[in-house]
Amino acid sequence: MGESSIEVRKLDHIRICLEKDVEFKQKTTWFEFVELIHIAAPELDYVDIDTSTEFLSRKFSAPILIEGMTGGAKGTEIINRNLAIAASELNIPIELGSQRAALEKPELAESFRVVRDVAPDVFLIANIGGVQLIKGGIRLAEEVVKMVDANALAVHLNPLHEVVQPYGTTSFKGVLEAIKSVAEGLPIPIIVKEVGYGICAELSRRLEEIGVAVIDVGGAGGTNWALIERIRALEKGFFEHAAIGKTFLEWGIPTAAATIEAHASTKIPIIASGGIRNGLDVAKAIAIGASMAGIARPLLQHAVVGPDKVVTFLKQMVSELKTAMFLTGCRDVGSLKKAKVAITGRLLEWVKQRGIQHPKVRL
Ligand SMILES: Cc1cc2nc3c(=O)[nH]c(=O)nc-3n(C[C@H](O)[C@H](O)[C@H](O)COP(=O)(O)O)c2cc1C
Repeated sequence: MGESSIEVRKLDHIRICLEKDVEFKQKTTWFEFVELIHIAAPELDYVDIDTSTEFLSRKFSAPILIEGMTGGAKGTEIINRNLAIAASELNIPIELGSQRAALEKPELAESFRVVRDVAPDVFLIANIGGVQLIKGGIRLAEEVVKMVDANALAVHLNPLHEVVQPYGTTSFKGVLEAIKSVAEGLPIPIIVKEVGYGICAELSRRLEEIGVAVIDVGGAGGTNWALIERIRALEKGFFEHAAIGKTFLEWGIPTAAATIEAHASTKIPIIASGGIRNGLDVAKAIAIGASMAGIARPLLQHAVVGPDKVVTFLKQMVSELKTAMFLTGCRDVGSLKKAKVAITGRLLEWVKQRGIQHPKVRL
């Protein structure tokens, strides 16, 4: 049995994400260990609360980002189109799925370009794998950016995903050097992201040193790629891959812990993603140091129906974010960043054990 094409793999991912429960089963994001402090007399009118924020020199209506999911296969164009319409209507940034498939098959570029076509002014984040940059370098990075006239480039790091995936690309040797040269040579900001297992303090520090502009922690507790690839591996008869996937089903740094690690060890903006499921998660992420919160799989489920569904879902999230801001006496996102929190339970133990010095965590 040979390697299936990238196109087939991308369609498998969408099918599995839509049909199966592919979230972590035991591990959570640990946002349940982050408590915002309720203020019974907020001295605010709810209607005056302002969720707008600045990120990478642009003003957005809320600190919410559509994480990269798709493109690169027939039928994915409509998903990107619907997400783009929603991003544009709400004035929030949108990231593409990996553009690798379109580098190999240029006729697939349209499934990514559709975002620029329907939303010429949207803040658009191109996407490529760190492992692809090892060979392709700056030229490949320039190509994916040019393909969609991107405002920033996300480079994903997904070692567990690649190991569990049959025929995954598992050589990460030289990945940081490759990211460094792209960060130095590209005129737009580079975001480095995980896809569900988190970025620790040590790596965050290193990424800042090599010129990365933003870290998207992509922590554990939401979509679980070991599970998605385990399901694919079982379907296709790759039992060793499936078994590895099973053993590592609860691997990774929970999103709240990763956000604290990345924020405490760098001065660059942090995106909290991985299991962000409502506006209260967004508020907690901002209060522990994130500049934005990113969301992926729940949006896919709405995007296959239509742009209005995506807009309604995201508006609901913004209303929940506003509610959390109201209840903590925060009129704007700047105040929410300063809001008091109580870090409890396993998250507190983790931060202590790791010796992380975070301004909001009293040890
Ligand atoms: C169907 C699907 C496809 C994805 N494809 C990519 C991709 O190509 N590149 C990437 O960087 N992340 C990709 N992701 C990962 C998301 O951007 C995100 O990091 C991850 O799903 C965690 O967020 P969530 O828990 O909100 O889904 C994909 C996610 C989904 C659900």
